Amino acid sequence: MPQYNRGFVPSHLVCFNGNCRAQYPITEVIYNCPRCGGLLEASAPVGLDPERLKRLWRERRMSNAPLDQSGVWRYRELLPFEDQLEHAVTLREGNTPLLSSPRASAYGGLRTLAFKHQGFNPTGSFKDNGMTCGASQGRRLGMKRAACVSTGNTSASMAAYAAQAGMQAIIFLPHGNISYGKLAQALEYGARTLQVEANFDQILKLVRVLAEQLGIYLLNSVNPFRIEGQKTIMAEMLDQRDWRVPDWVAVPGGNLGNVSAFGKALRELQSAGFIDRLPRLAVIQAEGSAPFEAFSHAPAAAFPTVEHPETLATAIKIGDPVSWPKAWHEVTNSGGLVEKVTEQEIADAKAVIGASGIGCEPASAATLAGIRKLTAAGRIPPDADTVAILTGNVLKDPDYIYRYHTGQLTAHSGAIRGAFENAPMVVPNDPERIAALLA
Ligand code: F0G
Repeated sequence: MPQYNRGFVPSHLVCFNGNCRAQYPITEVIYNCPRCGGLLEASAPVGLDPERLKRLWRERRMSNAPLDQSGVWRYRELLPFEDQLEHAVTLREGNTPLLSSPRASAYGGLRTLAFKHQGFNPTGSFKDNGMTCGASQGRRLGMKRAACVSTGNTSASMAAYAAQAGMQAIIFLPHGNISYGKLAQALEYGARTLQVEANFDQILKLVRVLAEQLGIYLLNSVNPFRIEGQKTIMAEMLDQRDWRVPDWVAVPGGNLGNVSAFGKALRELQSAGFIDRLPRLAVIQAEGSAPFEAFSHAPAAAFPTVEHPETLATAIKIGDPVSWPKAWHEVTNSGGLVEKVTEQEIADAKAVIGASGIGCEPASAATLAGIRKLTAAGRIPPDADTVAILTGNVLKDPDYIYRYHTGQLTAHSGAIRGAFENAPMVVPNDPERIAALLA
């Protein structure tokens, strides 16, 4: 395995609250600052040599060592594991493509738009980038059981990585509010699966109490190691672009872990000299689950939690996002913004991404819907070099797709009119009639 010695400055956990900044050992099992209750983050990596690492990270693509083949561990100098790599659990995550589509770019009102498609991950979502790190930390700590609440993708990912790590996965789901594709993954990967009659935000509170009481390792994105792994999405994207910084990066916002990870990665890469400026971060939320968008209009007020979040993009059906303080820091620091889109806008953008041969799950399509709205309003110029993060695979939610294309999709806000409807036809077993139909 190509090696790099960044020296012996051990990582630690730091309170994100600027008035506290208390530090704790990297192996402490805590999810919030014991002193002030703030969010925690891993300390920034030190001793990075950009030119050497850019070359080394390229070289590792040629290596057959499992950690080099991982699109997360390839960038391990950015992660708080130092020499303790024997705990790393990998399913060859990351390595996700940058895809372009003239049709989707035009729909978004842009000349160049690339999709960084995290749906190409082993369990079909960006959660794998974070989970490989979170599960590895669980193993380093000697944890036997791991838990999460999830709108589906975190649970699918945690189930797979816990299985690989030899930990028992315990999954809490909002009953009736996740897609079958995601539920099926949790079951298939052998997780103990509990469906709770409550929404995501309520269950997260429950799971945090249970994790503490029962000594189960919590693997939601409040866990700073999840965030560390998700940082590599930005490192890999920049590596794939030969370190050319895009003008904008658009990402859907739910619990706001991903945008927090992106901002942290970009800041760290900038301060280490890998890049000389930051892309602006655009966070897109679904209209019925958009507390962060509301907050962005009145950041001095209390955070406007949405008690009953609604959206057919169930992955981002979250009204009380845990990571909002980090996310807000990253949005403002990058000169970014927060936007919201309707159910109709998400559905049509999703169909356009699908018709480009790319495809994604509903939450991911919020990016293209948001970009379309932002370019139309002149907030993103048409020549902005833009990367949109597609967070989940097209097969995560086939029910949504079938309903859209057959005119049966209904959101809380009303029926969706499939502008790009493509219903299957039932035909007789008769070549002449089929030929006539196709003429
Ligand atoms: N897109 C998809 C496909 C997701 O699954 C999620 C989050 C998001 C976007 C939002 O990312 O929370 O970092 O802002 N899904 C979580 C889950 C909540 O439980 O799978 P975020």
